[in-house]
Amino acid sequence: MNNSVVALLLLLSCIILPAVVDCRVRNYKFHVVSKNVTRLCSSKPIVTVNGKFPGPTLYAREGDHVLVKVVNLVNYNVSIHWHGVRQLRTGWADGPAYITQCPILPGQSYVYNFTIIGQRGTLLWHGHINWLRATVHGAIVILPKRGVPYPFPKPDDEKVLVLGEWWKSDTEAVINEAMKSGVAPNVSDAHTINGLPGTVANCSTQEVFNLGVESGKTYLLRIINAALNEELFFKIAGHNVTVVEVDATYVKPFTTDTIIIAPGQTTNVLLNTHQKSGKYLIAASTFMDAPVTIDNQTATATLHYTGGTTTLSDDSPMVLTTTPPKNATQIADQFINSLKSLNSPKYPAKVPLEIDHSLFFTVGLGVNPCPTCKAGNGSRVVAAVNNVTFVMPNTALLQAHYYNIKGVFTTDFPANPPHVYNYTANITKNIQTQNGTKLYRVPYNSTIQVVLQDTGVIAPESHPIHLHGFNFFVVGRGVGNYDPKEDPKKFNLEDPVERNTIGVPTGGWTALRFTADNPGVWFLHCHFEAHTTWGLKMAFLVDNGKGPKQSLVPPPKDLPKC
Ligand code: C2O
Repeated sequence: MNNSVVALLLLLSCIILPAVVDCRVRNYKFHVVSKNVTRLCSSKPIVTVNGKFPGPTLYAREGDHVLVKVVNLVNYNVSIHWHGVRQLRTGWADGPAYITQCPILPGQSYVYNFTIIGQRGTLLWHGHINWLRATVHGAIVILPKRGVPYPFPKPDDEKVLVLGEWWKSDTEAVINEAMKSGVAPNVSDAHTINGLPGTVANCSTQEVFNLGVESGKTYLLRIINAALNEELFFKIAGHNVTVVEVDATYVKPFTTDTIIIAPGQTTNVLLNTHQKSGKYLIAASTFMDAPVTIDNQTATATLHYTGGTTTLSDDSPMVLTTTPPKNATQIADQFINSLKSLNSPKYPAKVPLEIDHSLFFTVGLGVNPCPTCKAGNGSRVVAAVNNVTFVMPNTALLQAHYYNIKGVFTTDFPANPPHVYNYTANITKNIQTQNGTKLYRVPYNSTIQVVLQDTGVIAPESHPIHLHGFNFFVVGRGVGNYDPKEDPKKFNLEDPVERNTIGVPTGGWTALRFTADNPGVWFLHCHFEAHTTWGLKMAFLVDNGKGPKQSLVPPPKDLPKC
C-alpha cells in the first residue's frame, strides 16, 4: 500500500472507530433516540444517546480535536454539555441550553466542535436541558498525550463506573409535576451502577453490573457521579482503593475504603486485586446530612475475580460490605480533606494569590408566592444565589452577548448578598427571593475568589456547585458562617485541590479561586438538578482580552437558533 492509501485508511478508521484508533481528530455521532428499557422489573421509554444507557464513552487524548455530531431524533429539545471540558474560547460548544446555545430542536442536528487543551483524566458528558441528563449521560476519558505516562503506577487495565439514579416514572413528568405544584420533586426509586440497580427484591430478572477482574493486577477505576440529586458513598468489599485524580486533575495519592462523590464529580482510583478469587460487593448509597427526603436504596454491583491464575467458582458466597449511614458527615469530611493537588513540577497548582474580584455568594432555598400552587399552599419552593432566583432567558446568553442583543440579561449580579444576617441559622421569615437574569461581568484574566455560603432558609443543605469553563482551586472550607477576617488565614494556597464541582457543606461554606482566562458566558449552578431547576444558578460574563487568542471564536454556522 502506498502512503496516501494508508493515510486515507487511517482517516476512515478514525471516523468510524474513534474510540479504538489513535486519532488527532475524534469524530463521534450521537443520535438522541428514545429506547424502551426495563429496570426494577418494569419497562419505560427513555431518552438515550445511540440507544445506550449509560451512553457511549467518549475517548480522546489531550490535545485532540473533538467533533460530536448530535442528531435529535426525539420529541424534546436537546443540548449536550461536556462537563469539565474547559472549552477555551469555544463557549459555543459548551452545551447548557439558553446559556451558550439555543436547544437542538427535534429533527435538527448540531456539531459540537472543540479541542481538549491541558486536560487529561475522567469527565462526563450529559444532557443540559430540563431533566434529560437523568438518562442522557456518559463518560469522557481523556488519555494523556502519547508517550506521557500517568504520574502513578501504570494500571493493567481501566474500567468506567457510572453512578446514576432511576425513576420508575418519566423524569420530565416528575419535574414538570413538581414545578406545577410548587413542592419538591419525587425522589428516585433506585441508584444505579453502570445503569443497573443491583439485586431487586421480588424481581426475577438480574439487574446487576458485574465487574470482572483478574487476581494480582492493578485497575484504574474511573468513577463518575451522574445522579441528578444525590451525593454518593461508594465502597468495594474487601478492598481499599488509592485516589489519584478528581475532575480530571491529578491529586496526591491516598488510600481509603470509602469515597464520597457529588453529582458532576469524577474520581479515579487504583484498585489492587490482591484477593485470590471470589465475589465482592460494590455499593453506592446516598450521603445527606440534612433533614431532606432522599432515595434510601443502595445500588449494588459485583467485583468478580475471573480467569487469571485462579479458577472461577461461580457459587462462592459474596463478600459483603455496608456503606456509611446517610448522615456520616465525618467520613465525608475526612475524604474531602484528604484531597490535595499533586502540585509537582510537571503538574503545578497555579493558585491565584492576588484577587481582583472577591465575591461572597449565599446559596440556598427560598419561598415565593404562587397562587396556582395548590400542593404548596399558594407558594413554591425556589432557590437562589445572593437572593437572586435565576430566570432562564428565551435567547442564549452567549448569542445575546456576541451579537449585542439588548434586554436579554443585565450585568448587575450582586457581589454580596443584599442583607447581612446569620446565614446558617434556621430561617423561616423574609425568605422571598428576587427574580432576574443577572450576570457578573469581569475583564479577561481577572482573578476571582468566590466564597459560597450555604443558608439555613427552610433547612441548611449541601450544594455541589459546578462552574463551567474553568477549573477552580478549593482554598478553604468550614462549618457555620464564613469569617472574612479569620478564615482566610487558614486558606491552603499551596496545594489545594483543583476541580470543577465542589460540595458546599451543609450549613457551611467553601472558598474557591480561579483566573478568568476564558472569554464567554459561563454558567455556575448547583449540580442537584432539583436546585438548578428552582433557580440556584447564575453566570459569569468574561470579556475578550486584547491579545491574540484571547477572544471568543466566531459562532459555528450550524449553531441552533432560538
Ligand atoms: Cu454538569 Cu451545567 O453541568
